[in-house]
Amino acid sequence: MESVSTLVKVSLPNYLRNLPIPNSISGFAKLSGSDWLSLVPFVGTVSLLVYVTLQAFRQKSPKPSPLVNLKVQKESSKVVNMVDIEDLGDKVCYCRCWRSKKFPLCDGSHTKHNEETGDNVGPLVLKRKA
Ligand code: FES
Repeated sequence: MESVSTLVKVSLPNYLRNLPIPNSISGFAKLSGSDWLSLVPFVGTVSLLVYVTLQAFRQKSPKPSPLVNLKVQKESSKVVNMVDIEDLGDKVCYCRCWRSKKFPLCDGSHTKHNEETGDNVGPLVLKRKA
């Protein structure tokens, strides 16, 4: 444990103190080749830490599902609904968002889906002429 303590309290501060980091951006132009070489391990380590940190955050965001149908009749290889045109009545709303619990009819679930995703889907409304 003492070696870690010495590394953190003595060696690392000495190493950082001796790095040829100029006080201004234009000072980098005045660095010699050996100065640049002594910066390589430091820049490489910082770059690696930034990369690993960004990767850790990136992997936490799940990929959106490529599926349109997330839960309707998943046991079927294809969802097909047949409706007799004589049974339509004066007005009927069919779901196009695939989120309705009464699929193929719309139950308004598209509103929540649109709020959560920024989507703009809505039902297909079939209406008889008056
Ligand atoms: S619930 Fe799907 S379009 Fe309304």
